[in-house]
Amino acid sequence: MRERRPSQTAATVALIRALADQGLTDVPGFEDPVVHRLLSRGWSAALTLIARRLRRMDPAKRARVLARLSSVPLRVRAIDVELEGAVALGCRQVASLGAGLDTRAFRMKALSATHFFEIDHPATQAFKQSKAAALSPVVEKLTYVPVDFERDALSTCLLSAGHRPDEPTAWIWEGVVMYLSDDALRATLRALADASAPGSLLLVNYMEPEARRRLGLVGHLIARIWSEPLVGFRRREVMLAEVERAGFRALRDTGAEDWARQFGAPFASSNPAAGARLLVAERAGAR
Ligand SMILES: C[S@@+](CC[C@H](N)C(=O)[O-])C[C@H]1O[C@@H](n2cnc3c(N)ncnc32)[C@H](O)[C@@H]1O
Repeated sequence: MRERRPSQTAATVALIRALADQGLTDVPGFEDPVVHRLLSRGWSAALTLIARRLRRMDPAKRARVLARLSSVPLRVRAIDVELEGAVALGCRQVASLGAGLDTRAFRMKALSATHFFEIDHPATQAFKQSKAAALSPVVEKLTYVPVDFERDALSTCLLSAGHRPDEPTAWIWEGVVMYLSDDALRATLRALADASAPGSLLLVNYMEPEARRRLGLVGHLIARIWSEPLVGFRRREVMLAEVERAGFRALRDTGAEDWARQFGAPFASSNPAAGARLLVAERAGAR
């Protein structure tokens, strides 16, 4: 991450969600009606241009492009379903780690009784906050917490932001750990476990090494130019071991193919989304 520049990968993901909200996706039922309002002027112009090109494209070619983008709407829907379940089970605090242009606090009515914490790198968060000032949160309370996972003590930041470690929390960690070193991953997982009361759930999205190849040279090059290199592809057994070592117990680990089946989206094994996964874990010793 560049110190002073908001994350460009967060903007990319938001652009894909905005396209999907306009129906430019092969994932049925995807909605994110506020995300376009969080885009910068440049990214908004890109949205208009790309949407127009996609609509004019030959249908077979468009289907191939949308398949390449489907990992984002698929993972969002998979996380939303898990999050609704966590809230129904009693989590009254929700924390989005590396929130980027996350819109859950502005669109998910199921979160209306929760205290929502948006945790992100200070540069990305400052931009997000300036754009989100025009939106009305649907959650009971929204708190922004600036944190650099590579440097800052997350526990201290959470406490001073009003997070209650004695109340259950649903932790969302979406599209972030692939940008983090092992040290940052471990320190953050430990801090989350320490701040997790019984009943807390961790929803961590990660990418397996096969996704590295599917991303292609151009994808990696762009991530490097943006100073957001993908350094953290991890195998299922590695993520499981990391999460359990920190003090969580894994409940389930699903992948893009499962989500496609769940939401009635097409999915070929060659889909670049293969390799995207969601591990759901609870605080160990909570039962
Ligand atoms: C690809 S975006 C994902 C954003 C959002 N979670 C989503 O899925 O739409 C990656 C996010 O990770 C955050 N991030 C990357 N490195 C970070 C770090 N060292 N500390 C805090 N946040 C970081 C960026 O600011 C950005 O918001």
